[in-house]
Amino acid sequence: MAQRREHWGSRLGFILAAAGSAVGVGSLWRFPYIAGQNGGGAFIILYLIFTFTLGLPVFIAELIIGRKTQKSAILAYTELSHKSQWKFIGWLNFLSCLIILSFYSVVSGWGVSYTLMSLTGFTEGRTPDQISGTFDILYRSADINLLWLGVFLLINVGVVYAGVKKGIEHWSKILMPALFVMLLGLLGFSLTLDGLPKALHFIFYPDWAKVTPSMILSALGMAFFTLSVALGIILTYGSYMRSKEDVPKTALTVACMTVFVSILASVMIFPIVFTFGYTPEAGPGLVFKTMPVLFAKLPGTLILSTIFFVLFVFTALTSSISLMEMLVSNLMENFGLNRKRAVGLTAVGAFILGVPSALAGSGLLFGKWQTIYGRDFFETMDFITSNWFMPIAGFLTTVFVGWVIDKQIVKSEFLSGTKWMCWYRPWFFMVKYVAPIVVAAIILQQAGIIKI
Ligand code: PHE
Repeated sequence: MAQRREHWGSRLGFILAAAGSAVGVGSLWRFPYIAGQNGGGAFIILYLIFTFTLGLPVFIAELIIGRKTQKSAILAYTELSHKSQWKFIGWLNFLSCLIILSFYSVVSGWGVSYTLMSLTGFTEGRTPDQISGTFDILYRSADINLLWLGVFLLINVGVVYAGVKKGIEHWSKILMPALFVMLLGLLGFSLTLDGLPKALHFIFYPDWAKVTPSMILSALGMAFFTLSVALGIILTYGSYMRSKEDVPKTALTVACMTVFVSILASVMIFPIVFTFGYTPEAGPGLVFKTMPVLFAKLPGTLILSTIFFVLFVFTALTSSISLMEMLVSNLMENFGLNRKRAVGLTAVGAFILGVPSALAGSGLLFGKWQTIYGRDFFETMDFITSNWFMPIAGFLTTVFVGWVIDKQIVKSEFLSGTKWMCWYRPWFFMVKYVAPIVVAAIILQQAGIIKI
């Protein structure tokens, strides 16, 4: 296959595309609800520590592998190690991306549904409980969930088919700034609510007594998930980067943006939770149950609510296209498919795998799943990818960069294009020693193999 590799059009374009992948439903939907379930403060502090000490180094490691090889995960791991068994990491990444794309599209589909509901003024004449209860009805509706899952995947097909520059970069440049403006605006309203002090206490006051091994693993998984690392995505995006770009600076910018949005989303959502008497443990419906209640209280409900959910769908889109692009580029490289075929195959695969997640609430498929596994199908997919696959892939990626490939390659790739040379040593130390040991310890503890 002698196709020329596409590249990002500009540095800003790349940053926004990578930030687009990172900032998404994970920050707006998943972070607040998992933080809520894990008691707030302590979880959030662990998440911040993990993002900067483990997630960020892995992010840089992936960019380096991708940019050096100009290949996607599976081939990149083989090329740098000269051994084909390392492509296992690439395949683990591939599987994780497919699973995440499937359930992520269901969540994004809820966003599409809420956009339409907002346009029809669904909060009018309803009590706060009725408004938030709408989510439970949606969660149980098989047909509607399937419809929006399919629609959302089709939108992805359109963007990813257009390619790196014209599709992904172009759309990220428009959608990301719009998101930031909107979020800041909405935050202003939340800050006026009575529940604000309670919310701030919940978010920023750590109750260390609540820390458990599984919560620590969740915080690590969350740090990886929101940064989109340990999935080969950042690696793929790095492969579209040129050698004059600054890797560490770009990575830090993206990490800061992601953390900023995650915290912002919590500061926006928890005042509503405490003002209207909801519980922080509301689960996957948290954003969908709380935000409309706030909108109903504000002037211009229809417009505000519609804009919020349109943006929700947009951020979901900039993330899901990164998942799809990872799958597509690997399929193209490994099986010699053209972009069109690869996009089609990925969409069909994600749809089929997404069906049981879309039907999880209705119980129409795998009705006994929850009784047997303790979580419904949808939650199981989310759980195994973030709590097992991503930490394991993160561990292997750091071992790969720290111990397997030629140190000279790592060094020259880190230094190429950056002015932050002094960061090389601390970063390499993290990747070689700290990250693998800490991540391995967390995984083994969770597996019950060791007890710290
Ligand atoms: N980082 C994205 C988010 O926070 C989700 C995501 C995870 C995207 C994994 C791609 C890969 O929403």
